[in-house]
Amino acid sequence: MTGSWLEKRRRDQYYRLARIRGYRSRSAYKLQQAIRTYQLIKPSQKVVDLGAQPGGWLQVAREVVGPAGLVLGIDIKQIAPLPAGNIKLLKMDVYAEDIADRIVAELDGPANAVLSDLAPSIIGAWDVDHARQVDLARRAMEIAEKVLDHDGNALIKLFHGPELKRVQDDAALLFERSRLLKPKASRPESSEIYFLGLRFKAKWYQPAAKVAD
Ligand SMILES: C[S@@+](CC[C@H](N)C(=O)[O-])C[C@H]1O[C@@H](n2cnc3c(N)ncnc32)[C@H](O)[C@@H]1O
Repeated sequence: MTGSWLEKRRRDQYYRLARIRGYRSRSAYKLQQAIRTYQLIKPSQKVVDLGAQPGGWLQVAREVVGPAGLVLGIDIKQIAPLPAGNIKLLKMDVYAEDIADRIVAELDGPANAVLSDLAPSIIGAWDVDHARQVDLARRAMEIAEKVLDHDGNALIKLFHGPELKRVQDDAALLFERSRLLKPKASRPESSEIYFLGLRFKAKWYQPAAKVAD
């Protein structure tokens, strides 16, 4: 890390606020701003957060859903435990075949919101990084299609690039309303942008219960 990078971070208001308020990431403010503007999560709801480590979004989401709600955080990396009754953690690759079933089992039903801040480890080759980010966003959308309840909402990280429009158009078909969002807390120099989908159109498909012979 260079001296100027550290200096820039110290001056960053969201980084400082996150430290003061005890949020594990400055990203927490991106989700907070999206929730304040679009009410994409409400009290008592069930939420799944894909790519949740270190846990800033989990902290914000659990504050909103409150004690009657539940937030399930999933990451391929271990998430340090968060002492809260309304958070569950799962160490899992989002590409695992049974991920949607696991989510529904952990939430004991469909999700009211799917959040994805999934991001690949950046290797510095722009086209490769972009392709991997697009793939993660598409995977998040596939999962959302399987676990979202009717009228549910989604917030999914994307990156600017040649595939952005196509991913956005495909995802938009699934929701009554949608748009791209750049929260104030997202660094202007970052090419990240979020897809916001409001009111999932489909009815949640509940697998039929097994009937004994
Ligand atoms: C930007 S961080 C998330 C930050 C988080 N929203 C917060 O506020 O603390 C992106 C996360 O995506 C996770 N990730 C990347 N690929 C994944 C995969 N295939 N399965 C599960 N998690 C993955 C990374 O491990 C990383 O922790």
